[in-house]
Amino acid sequence: MAMDYPDFTAIGPDTATGKFLRSFWQPVYQSAKLKPGKAVPLRLLGEDFTLFRGTSGKASVIAPYCAHRGLKLSMGRVVGDTVECFYHGWTYDGRGQCVAQPAEKKSFADKIKIGGYPTQEYLGLIFCYFGEGAAPPLPRFSVYEENSFHEIRESHRAWSAFAQLENSVDEVHFAFTHRKSKFSDVGLNDELPDLGAEETDYGILRIGRRGNLVRKSHIIMPNCMFSMVFEHFKGWAEHIAWRVPVDENTHVNFMIDCVHKTGADAEEYSRLRAEHRASLKDLEPAQKVVDRILRGELHCDDIEWRPDIVLIQDGVAMQGQPPGRDRSKDILGASDRQVVMLRSIWGREIRAIEQGQATKKWSVPPELVPTSGTDYEAAKT
Ligand code: FES
Ligand SMILES: [Fe+2]
Repeated sequence: MAMDYPDFTAIGPDTATGKFLRSFWQPVYQSAKLKPGKAVPLRLLGEDFTLFRGTSGKASVIAPYCAHRGLKLSMGRVVGDTVECFYHGWTYDGRGQCVAQPAEKKSFADKIKIGGYPTQEYLGLIFCYFGEGAAPPLPRFSVYEENSFHEIRESHRAWSAFAQLENSVDEVHFAFTHRKSKFSDVGLNDELPDLGAEETDYGILRIGRRGNLVRKSHIIMPNCMFSMVFEHFKGWAEHIAWRVPVDENTHVNFMIDCVHKTGADAEEYSRLRAEHRASLKDLEPAQKVVDRILRGELHCDDIEWRPDIVLIQDGVAMQGQPPGRDRSKDILGASDRQVVMLRSIWGREIRAIEQGQATKKWSVPPELVPTSGTDYEAAKT
């Protein structure tokens, strides 16, 4: 059945999809990568920004350019909790308020204000609110707060955030796209799943059932996936991933895994993880392999198993679709149930914004967790 969808990939500030995404907190940077006294350029949601960390440790996000003669403020010097423009010294605080114009005998700094956006840091990420009005509460996740060993990763991908999000709710592709991977070790691509999808207060509860194995995952509106993932040296772990658009056809994934290891086990895990990262350095980069496959020089099934094979397989599946394609023309079946629910909710909320109507007030229970197990009744609780 063909559906009339809004453009889910037009994410600029004046688009309804862009306004929808901006009405939630979005992760923008890893906390540990931004030292006090540093400023960096940010590009997200089709816009540029300046991110800086003051000497007090406070992270701020303000507009990209100086109001004076337009220099990029990320070139500036951080002074206290302000950033001083590299060109003539106009200085801005974390709200974007100009607080000094050293070359002006009669300062009019109080009349100069550029954009400034609220920030919060949580679980090792800097979150920012780019929307209008008061920000909603930032979702909290007790499982991460109770288990302090987190692994934070970031990956930049050459396809739209929405394509990645659709892929997140598509368990059917495991059996095809990931046939040659280690998903079969944990029974995820041996058989096609029975699928369930329910709209909830936070987004979508997804259920994938393969015989006795039941996997419950969550989409936290609008662009966050929370699921159990399996890695051979980690076992099952909670995995949360925000798919944040950079531009219409590229995005960044911020991912946090909750690693249930302590003491010597945690040290051993970190050693194995470092080895894993080192082993990837000796391989042809995943994106180059994807590009070769898409040029027809290689088939995905011909690549030898490697630790990042899933990324390559997903890259082929996602970059193999033309960017900006019209999803309204897709021919969907019952096995697309979860994709249909994602598109319907996004579509409903974006249309409400277009028509000036109220959108749903979402709330994320802090105790929310994904599950993966063989006992369906236990998994339901
Ligand atoms: S351009 Fe920034 S102070 Fe002149
Ligand atoms: Fe995949």
